[in-house]
Amino acid sequence: MKKQLGVAIHGAGSVARAHVASWQRSPYATIVSVSSQRRESAQRLVDEIALNCTVHTSFDDVLKDERVDIVDLTGPNHVHAEQGIAAAAAGRHLLIEKPMAISVAENRALRDAVALSGVKSVVSFVLRWNPLFQNLKSLLAAQTIGDLIYVEVDYWHGIGPWYSGWDWAHTRKTGGSTMLLGGCHAIDALRWFAGDEVVQVTAFSNNTKGLYEYDANVVAIMKFRNDAIGKSSTLFDCQMPYSFNIDLVGTDGTLRDNRLWSKRLLPNQTDWATLPTIMPDSGDVNHHPFDAEVNHLAECILENRESHCNVADSFHTHELCLAIDQSIARGGQPISLPLA
Ligand SMILES: NC(=O)c1ccc[n+]([C@@H]2O[C@H](COP(=O)([O-])OP(=O)(O)OC[C@H]3O[C@@H](n4cnc5c(N)ncnc54)[C@H](OP(=O)(O)O)[C@@H]3O)[C@@H](O)[C@H]2O)c1
Repeated sequence: MKKQLGVAIHGAGSVARAHVASWQRSPYATIVSVSSQRRESAQRLVDEIALNCTVHTSFDDVLKDERVDIVDLTGPNHVHAEQGIAAAAAGRHLLIEKPMAISVAENRALRDAVALSGVKSVVSFVLRWNPLFQNLKSLLAAQTIGDLIYVEVDYWHGIGPWYSGWDWAHTRKTGGSTMLLGGCHAIDALRWFAGDEVVQVTAFSNNTKGLYEYDANVVAIMKFRNDAIGKSSTLFDCQMPYSFNIDLVGTDGTLRDNRLWSKRLLPNQTDWATLPTIMPDSGDVNHHPFDAEVNHLAECILENRESHCNVADSFHTHELCLAIDQSIARGGQPISLPLA
């Protein structure tokens, strides 16, 4: 295995700039190319930071470039699955922005293509590397609050026309839905904390401002295989600072964001214990822990192991988002998972 992995960035917008900065800091990798739909966007990114790399004009050229070990897909939502399938077929490892797919068919096709090719993958549910998330996972693993009986995660983020990707994000064809555009972060967190899969979900929605082609505000309730229950909401029409709420209620205690109540660990506790840490409290991509995410992918490749956040795992996050969308489309009808 080469000492340095070659990275191709494909899609030169806002999140690409954060990925580029993280890859530049990584001890494992070198950016060998940048490309985008339009050559001038890729060239602008390269010039901005005086990056010494090739600017490819087509995705085919990216995949033909033998220096490329990892394709980092940072284009809009509707191109991820198709490009991920092509990259996997060409034997390239994948960092793929969320959502990795915007339909049931795309989700299955990408999962199957990656499984067939054997490439390593990470889907960019970057909050899994947020320090609060990692502390919560560690407390759960230590049975600090016993077994989970209720899991609640909300993503309240007033995404609107100010967003650089607004033109593609607000339509069904290119953005997908509220769940696929932003709610997938909350659903992925819910699954990761629960350590289990949802078997049934019901959802409702509204579209108070009418800015999006799809309903901008969604609430879903769900039942897990192990009998735990859960709730998740995503609100794009909210008027408030970015909020990512986490409530994990167990048989022996509760975690509310960074506050702990644990009969098991702290029998004489009289009030919440607060864990000072870095919270998931900003939607700014420069606040997201992409450094840890890109290094994790590189280590998975170099050590020949699978990521906890690979395409096979993220398939279930997307399937649950798509089930929520199906429930909304059917007026709140319960949907069973796995999808038929
Ligand atoms: N994980 C996270 O926390 C996080 C945060 C933000 C965004 N994201 C995701 O990252 C992706 C990009 O978001 P963004 O905020 O960077 O959006 P953006 O600012 O609109 O950037 C997307 C870029 O993709 C390029 N593009 C368009 N069509 C393309 C194609 N077919 N192939 C390759 N590139 C293409 C566009 O440039 P040209 O058309 O000029 O070439 C555009 O600049 C989205 O899927 C979004 O959901 C994830």
